[in-house]
This record gives sequence, C-alpha cells and structure tokens, in this order.
Amino acid sequence: MTSERLSVVVTRRLPEAIEARMRELFAVEFNPGDKPMSREALADAMRRADVLVPTLTDRIDQGLLSQAGDRLKLIANYGAGVDHIDVATARARGILVANTPGVLAEDTADMAMALILAVTRRIPEGLAVMQAGDWEGWSPMALLGGRIRGRTLGILGMGRVGQALARRARCFGMEVQYHNRRRLHRQIEAEHEARYWESLDQMVAHVDILSINCPHTPSTFHLMNARRLKLMRPDAVIVNTSRGEVIDENALTRMLRAGEIAGAGLDVFEQGARANPRLRTLPNVVLLPHMGSATREARREMGEKVLINIQTFADGHRPPDLVVPGMA
Ligand code: DGY
Repeated sequence: MTSERLSVVVTRRLPEAIEARMRELFAVEFNPGDKPMSREALADAMRRADVLVPTLTDRIDQGLLSQAGDRLKLIANYGAGVDHIDVATARARGILVANTPGVLAEDTADMAMALILAVTRRIPEGLAVMQAGDWEGWSPMALLGGRIRGRTLGILGMGRVGQALARRARCFGMEVQYHNRRRLHRQIEAEHEARYWESLDQMVAHVDILSINCPHTPSTFHLMNARRLKLMRPDAVIVNTSRGEVIDENALTRMLRAGEIAGAGLDVFEQGARANPRLRTLPNVVLLPHMGSATREARREMGEKVLINIQTFADGHRPPDLVVPGMA
C-alpha cells in the first residue's frame, strides 16, 4: 500500500506540528472544532477512511465496527488506553489497532505523585484559604496533613506508570508495595525495593495510600468494589490516574462521606466527564479533569507514535504499537 493517498480521519484536534506532518503524508480530514464526533459522524468516517485516528472520547464498539467499510484497515489510537475500542471485533474484521504506549508514563506518574501530595498535605484547602483572602497568619495547628516519608504506598498495576510512580515514591521515602497480574522479575522488584502481594485484598488492607495504575479491562472493572474499599483502613487515601471504571465510584463516594476512607485524589471517573457531583463537595477529595498525561511533550510524542504507526502500516509492515486482543 502506498502512503500517498491513504485516507485518514482524525477525530480530535492534535498538536499543530503533528497535524502539519499528517497533512504532508496523508489525505487527512481533521476535526477543527474539536468536539467529540457523533456516532453517526464516526460511522461515516469509518465507512470512508483507510485509517481512523480516534481518542479515548470515541467509543468504537461492535455496532460501529459492523458498519466499517472494507477500506478501513487501521485504527491508530491517539492514546495508550484502548478500553474504548472493541479490539477483538476489530481484529476479527481484519482491522488492526495500534496505540501510543510508553510516552505518557512519566507524566502520569508525576500526576499520581502530585495527587498523593495534594490530598495528604491538603494543598487545595490551603489554596482555597489564600484565594479567599482568609489567611490570618501561621498557626501551629492549621491545616495539618500527614507526613509522606515512611508511608506505605500500594500500587495496583505495576506496568510503566506503576513503576515510574514507584521510582518517585522511593525518592519521597515511601515504602512501595504492589499487586500485579504477574509478579515482576525479582531484579526489577529489587530495583524498586517493592514488595509483591499476590492477594490484592491483603495489600489493600495494609497500605496507607493506594494508587490505581492498571488498565480498565473486563477483569479490572470495579476491581476496587465496595467490599474491597471496605478493606482499606479509615486513615488511608486512594488515588486514581488510570481509568474511573476500576473503582466503584458510588461506593467510594459513600465511604468518603462517611469518613471510612480518609481521602481521594481522582483524575479519572467512571462516567468519563461526569464525576459523581457529591465528590465535589468533599474537602478530603482532589478532583482533576483527566490531565495525567497533559503535557505538551507527551501530546507531541503521542502524535509522533501515531504517525509512525500509520506510516509503517502504509509501507506494508506491522505498526510497532500493535494492540492484540486481551493484551491491555
Ligand atoms: C491514555 O492515553 O489512555 C491516557 O489515559 C490519556 O491521558
């Protein structure tokens, strides 16, 4: 296949340099308004294009894939997570799926660390005092948080982001523990000075801070359900920079309100942009609008990965970041 006339539809605005390069390489349609495309518009794009470049705001399910035209051969996702794409159905229809792993991990781990600090050191509460002009000066007992050094951090999902977080946590003097589908190689475990828990229940009951870093798959949906959340200590904090669906958000909200969990730092929510409104009213909760990977550098590198995936495919090879069903 030649890249000359490969027709590519991109569903959201991307960095200018990436869009410019795509324009040079492909017959590309962009979405200058940057509004998530309707289902009808997506279906139409999938009937016409050779390559679709969606993001996590596009749900590419079985229904949409069944309407895809014969031309559609590659879904080159702009993003690492692919839980919005029915990868198995795509592959069954001969459509490859690629993603952009590796270039978001450090930034996402920074954000997880930022949330850990924000919740345990009550940074938003301090900011609110300052912004309201209410600060009357230093006081020994004002806005006391908890010391980070010596705390036990449980990392649920020890992939790229989990390991990047472990490195940061060690620098802050935290004790790192983790649970993962597969235990890490002993040498990597030793590098992180991380203790493996085969039982998630046992780890959850043990840690001061729990960070969610596993992808959302059918087997991780509500992994932190009401029963597991109840195993957490009442003085523990939970942080999520992965996907909202891993936590039962309503159960978490109830427990935060009841003081059964001390705090939460959430960058992602079960219903996408619709966070449980009750979370907004809680002083022990820090909410962010899914900005874990939102750096100019990550967005550019994600775009470069998309370009490489499409161009490699156009040159007749397997895209380097091919996603295989059940891999995520
Ligand atoms: C991804 O790429 O899946 C990330 O969640 C975006 O921040």
